[in-house]
Amino acid sequence: MLKGKHVVIGVTGGIAVYKVVDVVSRLKKLGAEITVMMTKHATEFVTPLTFRSLSLNYVVVDMFEEPKTWNVEHIEIAKRGDVFLLAPATANVIGKLVGGIADDMVTTVLMATKAPVFIAPAMNTGMYTNPVVQRNMLDLKTLGYHFIDPDAGRLACGDEGMGKLASPERIVETLVAFMSKQDFKDKKILITAGPTQEPIDPVRYITNHSSGKMGYKLAEEAARRGAEVILVSGPTQLEIPTGVKRISVTTALEMYEAVMTQMDDMDIIIKAAAVADYTPEHYSDRKVKKSNDDLSIPLKRTHDIALAINERKKDQIVVGFAAESHDHEKNALGKIQRKGFDFIVLNDISREGAGFKSDTNIVTIIDSKGEQVSYDKMLKGELATIILDKVTQYFK
Ligand code: PMT
Repeated sequence: MLKGKHVVIGVTGGIAVYKVVDVVSRLKKLGAEITVMMTKHATEFVTPLTFRSLSLNYVVVDMFEEPKTWNVEHIEIAKRGDVFLLAPATANVIGKLVGGIADDMVTTVLMATKAPVFIAPAMNTGMYTNPVVQRNMLDLKTLGYHFIDPDAGRLACGDEGMGKLASPERIVETLVAFMSKQDFKDKKILITAGPTQEPIDPVRYITNHSSGKMGYKLAEEAARRGAEVILVSGPTQLEIPTGVKRISVTTALEMYEAVMTQMDDMDIIIKAAAVADYTPEHYSDRKVKKSNDDLSIPLKRTHDIALAINERKKDQIVVGFAAESHDHEKNALGKIQRKGFDFIVLNDISREGAGFKSDTNIVTIIDSKGEQVSYDKMLKGELATIILDKVTQYFK
């Protein structure tokens, strides 16, 4: 099942190390290639020899020992993995990751890798529920790290509560599900993201609060699930997700032209961008000077890109977004009908943690038959998974 996949495992010092021995054995049986890195503290619980015997690979502990290959070893390992697992993850290593500390092989490799990282925490309940540890974990989730939550039960120290390392079965199932889900393979998807900027003069422009986070998370998840992704992005501060082709645009007109040029080739179009509905009628190539009078800037309508897609589409699946502050459902349903979306993701931007800029969103997904499902606040990465799962229901 995992033939051709390479899992790099960082093992840190906790009694649950013995369960990771089982994880390695199970992954190996599924055909994965495995590299194990251990912290010095982890070797107090289980020897490197145990992991070496099961992974059939050398185990790295010391940054400065003679390297086994003539590469810069921590960078070579960082590039080697399709996926990384940190288990058991102590409060200490979680804190180091958040703080950007890389003082051993495990933390150095984790900092250098661009591959997805799964963190399986294991620690005493008091430590796990400590607000500092909880905040650190939330920060890492926000940065895109995946967590395999611990179980509750009797801990090695005798306490009862949350903090037991997830079972080896659950850890392996999570990694297998992640690595084998390629349900967008052979699909071409175009995603729009971010704001547009409509210039008034060389100094000023009209824009909105979109950060691009929602659209970029969708692009990242679609690429991971095997899609060929084109991200038409307004100006943002975000990095291009791995495997995604980005077309950068500034104005609504440029976004319209980019989408129209690409759309015929696409299977799926998701419109997460916040496009300006109006743009200044005239651009002044000289800075508009102030005077004692009030100033009016005449605006003209931009193209409604979603409407244009609806007029031209053949059998593409089209998903819209709606950012609403009032009459949410009525407005969203109107947009589905006018713009021909298969379904729409409705953000109530008046709620804390929803819509623009935040790492989280609170949405209701409404389809063209008016059926709707509302979701509690969640990270935009998690929502991207839900939206793409919904898209797969429209595959023929
Ligand atoms: O980028 P983030 O900070 O993460 O924030 C995410 C978001 C709030 C921007 C996003 O989730 C969202 O709701 N995007 C749509 C915002 C919006 O412009 O909604 P709207 O109700 O004005 O437009 C409805 C739909 O028509 C949208 O899919 C929009 O892309 C599209 N549209 C709008 C105007 C226009 N001229 N052309 C369009 O295609």
